[in-house]
Amino acid sequence: MKAIRRSRPLVIANFAITADGKISTRNRTPSLFTSPRDKRNLLEIRAGVDAILVGRGTVASDAMTMGLPDVSFRAQRIARGQAEFPLRVVVTNSGRLSSKLRLFQAKAGPLVIFTTDQMSRATELRLQALGAEIRRQRGRAVNLGKMLAELRADHAVKTVVCEGGAALMRSLLEAELVDRIHLTLCPVIFGGKRAPTLTGLPGAFLPRAIKLKMIAMDVSTEGECFLEYRVVRPRGGKK
Ligand SMILES: NC(=O)c1ccc[n+]([C@@H]2O[C@H](COP(=O)([O-])OP(=O)(O)OC[C@H]3O[C@@H](n4cnc5c(N)ncnc54)[C@H](OP(=O)(O)O)[C@@H]3O)[C@@H](O)[C@H]2O)c1
Repeated sequence: MKAIRRSRPLVIANFAITADGKISTRNRTPSLFTSPRDKRNLLEIRAGVDAILVGRGTVASDAMTMGLPDVSFRAQRIARGQAEFPLRVVVTNSGRLSSKLRLFQAKAGPLVIFTTDQMSRATELRLQALGAEIRRQRGRAVNLGKMLAELRADHAVKTVVCEGGAALMRSLLEAELVDRIHLTLCPVIFGGKRAPTLTGLPGAFLPRAIKLKMIAMDVSTEGECFLEYRVVRPRGGKK
């Protein structure tokens, strides 16, 4: 996978959505509505990148390890000269991540947590003791552009996949930091105004519409549609 930007990594987002555009149920339960092929697809995309990025809500609700269970993917990475596992990056102000989460138990890549002044020192020490590197920024929210530039400069990250959730995706889109989007359109409808979409609960518009160009589409026998989009930058837009 080729990175196109020098100052920050190429940012890919990967989500599964229902036919009515939901990424989860109203109770924010894990994404269990996709097929084994979609799960394999997620791992394939993950295996190609230098880092995986998620918000705290997703790590907590989906019990993610952010690892690569399939040894063949890891062997392919090593053959390509990449680290065995992608770097794992979590964004959180609060640091409310239980020590019991699989994230901290799994054999997987190094874990970097980006946070702000809002995380207490005690929480920082607890997360460090669990093996995480803590990157603290000033302000009320992690500046995602700055975070990506740091990942590029300090961890040589050229490609990142954001695997959720909605709040993080919305912030990335608002800051015009998404380059590619993989969507698995699933043959199911949830309904419900409290079930989040790709950008969270229906609410404020994005500062400006994000235009996409479809670059690939594949329909599986299970009835899922695998879509890949490139984000079209407006002339004079952010690079
Ligand atoms: N269908 C799919 O493909 C898919 C993929 C991923 C997730 N999901 C679903 O989406 C749901 C979770 O989405 P979500 O919107 O609730 O959670 P999320 O985006 O994963 O996490 C939100 C949290 O991330 C932290 N965060 C995000 N941006 C930040 C920033 N710029 N600075 C500091 N912290 C930041 C905050 O943590 P603090 O509260 O600690 O400050 C925030 O509360 C789950 O139900 C999950 O299953 C579905």
